[in-house]
Amino acid sequence: MSVTTAAADRSVCAAPLPVLGRDVTVPLVTGGEVTYAALDYAASAPALQRVWDDVAAYAPYYGSVHRGAGYLSQLSTDLFENSRATVAEFLGCREGDQVVFTRSTTDSLNLLAAALPADCQVFVFETEHHASLLPWRDARVTYLNAPRTADQAVATLERALADREPYGPALVCVTGASNVTGELWPVKELAAAAHAHGARIVLDAAQLAPHHPVSISELDVDWVAFSGHKLYAPFGSGVLAGRSDWLREAEPYLAGGGASRKVARRPKEAGGGVDVEWHETAARHEAGSPNVIGVYSIASACKALTEAGFDELVARENQLIAKVREGLAEVPAVKVLSLFGDDAPRVGVISFVVDGWNSSHFAAALSAEYGIGVRDGLFCAHPLVRTLLGSDPQTQGECGAPEAEPGEKSLNAIRVSFGAGTPDEHVERFVRAVKELVADGARWNYRTEDGRCVPDTNVA
Ligand SMILES: Cc1ncc(COP(=O)(O)O)c(C=O)c1O
Repeated sequence: MSVTTAAADRSVCAAPLPVLGRDVTVPLVTGGEVTYAALDYAASAPALQRVWDDVAAYAPYYGSVHRGAGYLSQLSTDLFENSRATVAEFLGCREGDQVVFTRSTTDSLNLLAAALPADCQVFVFETEHHASLLPWRDARVTYLNAPRTADQAVATLERALADREPYGPALVCVTGASNVTGELWPVKELAAAAHAHGARIVLDAAQLAPHHPVSISELDVDWVAFSGHKLYAPFGSGVLAGRSDWLREAEPYLAGGGASRKVARRPKEAGGGVDVEWHETAARHEAGSPNVIGVYSIASACKALTEAGFDELVARENQLIAKVREGLAEVPAVKVLSLFGDDAPRVGVISFVVDGWNSSHFAAALSAEYGIGVRDGLFCAHPLVRTLLGSDPQTQGECGAPEAEPGEKSLNAIRVSFGAGTPDEHVERFVRAVKELVADGARWNYRTEDGRCVPDTNVA
């Protein structure tokens, strides 16, 4: 994977891609309205206008997929299967790879976890998002310590794999870009290490695919998982793509219509009941009526990003990253969280804490006083955020819950994230807001309600 670092070419200034909601205004607690600055892309990105238009153009032709005899059913079936081909192309799939449509990255990784061969050993860094960390419950899992450089990550994996029992299947699960620090992981090198030791590797590309090209064949990973809603296609679909053998040999993820090729009554003398032949294609794990709009929207996003050109998208995003990082660096009270250090290549995901501020309080003030939507908490990567904060697990609140009253020092972090649809003004407003809040304090009073920090509407 070729990666451009934050020291981007400042002469590139392509426009953001049009997204829905770019003109939406929100009220400020201090009075008036402002256009909403959506800076929580890492959670869910706004829909690309192009995706919305494609879905709207198709909507009148919407029909049942696979089993309908009517014209619109056939059209929808073609659209659904062509979307599979588009995603396979987007991901640089190899001959024989399968593209399975799921609900999300979490669903994709749980599907793969359910398809692991018996006695599979799983290797996963403790720094992973919970979607990569937790699905492997029935497998023998080795949790790898947080590395402090990309090279250390490879060395740690090498060591763990060299120590493993030298027989039986093994799987490494790794994230391409961190949802906390935005840092890129050395996927190609980790894949080489996995393969050298007879293991396979699945790439959690939830945060990588919206920002960088992801090629299964170039990275030489065995599977890739990602979510539509982070890829500007928020219609409830996700993808697991890659090798077909484990998937073909596994029990269907869900049992039901669509996954079964043939179901026959078993004769009474053979005990009664039914015999089932399951599909060996991706349909094996796609039981039930598929989310054709969700799938089509992902294909549309893949085309839109490819046509926009990742070189341009990456160059522009690096400009935004540099603006935010340079702005935050001018505020001594701000500490940006990083595993691999300042020079690590990264995507537009930046987490930080502000000395003397509760993160929930800070995030609430950004929203209420500046119309900026960020996120605070542990970002469903509790072990990683706790490592980065150096905090005591016993004193932490749950994911997303503020642990103290506004004004107290925070044990959670604030995350700002952006991407292809982000105008410069949003990140500029964000940097200005951080500086003003740190210098002057909040202009409003806040209180904790249902575990969240909210403006106190009675007292200014
Ligand atoms: C790195 C990473 N992996 C997996 C997920 C889970 O994605 P989803 O909630 O779409 O299943 C997320 C979501 O934030 C993520 O950031």
